[in-house]
Amino acid sequence: MTTFPGDRSFAEGCDAADPLASFRERFARDDPSLIYLDGNSLGMLPLATAERIAEVVRGEWGAGLVRSWEHWIDLPRHAGDLLGSHLLGAAPGQVLVCDSTTVNLYKLARAALDARPGRTVIVTDDDNFPTDRYVLAGVAAERGADLRLIHTDMDTGVTAGAVRDAVDGATALVSLSHVAYRSGALADMAQITRIVQDAGALTLWDLCHSVGSVPVELDACGADLAVGCTYKYLNAGPGAPAFLYVAAGLAGSLRQPVQGWFGQRDQFGMGPAYDPAPGIGRFLTGTPDIAGTAAVEEGVRLLAEAGIGRLRDKGMRLTDYLIALADDWLAPLGCVLASPRDAARRGSHVCLRHPEAWRIGRALIRAGVIGDYRTPDRLRLGPAPITTAFADVWDALDTTRQIVESKAYQDFRPEPARVT
Ligand SMILES: Cc1ncc(COP(=O)(O)O)c(C=O)c1O
Repeated sequence: MTTFPGDRSFAEGCDAADPLASFRERFARDDPSLIYLDGNSLGMLPLATAERIAEVVRGEWGAGLVRSWEHWIDLPRHAGDLLGSHLLGAAPGQVLVCDSTTVNLYKLARAALDARPGRTVIVTDDDNFPTDRYVLAGVAAERGADLRLIHTDMDTGVTAGAVRDAVDGATALVSLSHVAYRSGALADMAQITRIVQDAGALTLWDLCHSVGSVPVELDACGADLAVGCTYKYLNAGPGAPAFLYVAAGLAGSLRQPVQGWFGQRDQFGMGPAYDPAPGIGRFLTGTPDIAGTAAVEEGVRLLAEAGIGRLRDKGMRLTDYLIALADDWLAPLGCVLASPRDAARRGSHVCLRHPEAWRIGRALIRAGVIGDYRTPDRLRLGPAPITTAFADVWDALDTTRQIVESKAYQDFRPEPARVT
């Protein structure tokens, strides 16, 4: 276990030596005193993105009007290739920026199931993100297939051994999150992909919490399919379009279920019947969100400039530091680590368990520290490496210590009862 000195000057020293420190200044910081540890939910606004969106709106839309479609039409592929080459380990022609993660998941899961006729099982884990479980259950129901759930420890995540036990000759598709949304546990993509493919099934990875926080090597792992969002570590903004990846060798043999005109071979031929485009293009559906896709490009450029290797390194050090301070200050007050302790086994966020996590989260927001709450009793803290200083982590943990010690969270009502 890594140990760190407890005084704030240590964090200040880390910030002074941080090669990525200056990137913080390239984001909107209207309240410089705010400590933001929720970049894994909604990333901060890059200043370059605000400028680019203004240009898209005023210049490309306002002045260019419909003429701008000449270059807008290729934006989902351009943004996809940029994202693929810098952050997904994907050669050109395999990634599109389009639709939402949920919709992309549906398109790819349905296509994958149909590509394995005679196989009737989709596998996921019972702690996968809700939209993944719901979509996969819906796809299974539509096609008369079964959804098999791997029981997963919510703090340590899904293991290769559990996947091996869950797949067999009936399995068509295994769909898992690369980094677990609650604990941050990082799944072994290479090993799991091998296990699934050895069983004759396809893999579909949800990269929402890993893209931009950990290096992703889709081509090198031999992954089949992947989806992910862009509003977390990619900082593309609320509702910005998601992405999808289809391995080059697979695209031509899959038929996606949303047969929109943007996926048509000769889109402007306006022909009588759907005839899918030959490669990745067939996974487009309808008119793309241009301002949102432009924001994805800007977000990717910023992370590419920082370098995913350096971001990963800083993310591991920030979360190691957070855990060390939590061990020293918060464990004696009843906060228990609910994420993998080994940095190599987690993404860039950490969960702490406490029966009053919800109220502690409210009290933190009042004190100017934005984290997150996740059921059933988790305080989720995500120090996104490009926007977070080591001193932010020290300040956030110090504030948490004061709130838990003084029970200041009792100023807030308990978590409202959920509708059952
Ligand atoms: C792992 C995971 N998948 C999917 C989503 C959400 O998908 P969508 O953008 O379609 O709402 C999230 C949102 O936080 C997520 O964490």
